[in-house]
Amino acid sequence: MSDRESRPRTECDPADSTVTVRVRDVNTDSDRVTDLDVERGTVLRDALLDAGLSPYARLTKRVNCGGRGLCATCGVRVRSGEPTPDHWHDGLAARFGYPRLSCQVRVDEPMTVELVEKVVWGGRE
Ligand code: FES
Repeated sequence: MSDRESRPRTECDPADSTVTVRVRDVNTDSDRVTDLDVERGTVLRDALLDAGLSPYARLTKRVNCGGRGLCATCGVRVRSGEPTPDHWHDGLAARFGYPRLSCQVRVDEPMTVELVEKVVWGGRE
């Protein structure tokens, strides 16, 4: 048994190449929570889409900027493990309470995010 196999897995084991992203969908009746094992460095938007947990509204799911940080339709609330902001939109998010753009967040540490209600562009499905 290797050191890695004998070591208990924790949410933030630095030797681990994956981290846990807890996703809370507050838009469902049951307030669904899903834990994702995500490769470190993965873009949050991509991890969510791969898991079938779209950060988009019904219409922007089909028409968006493809993760370039331009359309501002992929917002999520980061409740814990928030990475250091470095996108121009992050300043607005902090100042006015906007969600963070999931396409501009890299998953390097465990985090908890909420899929926010979408009030324009068709709402969430
Ligand atoms: S996908 Fe357009 S800003 Fe994130």
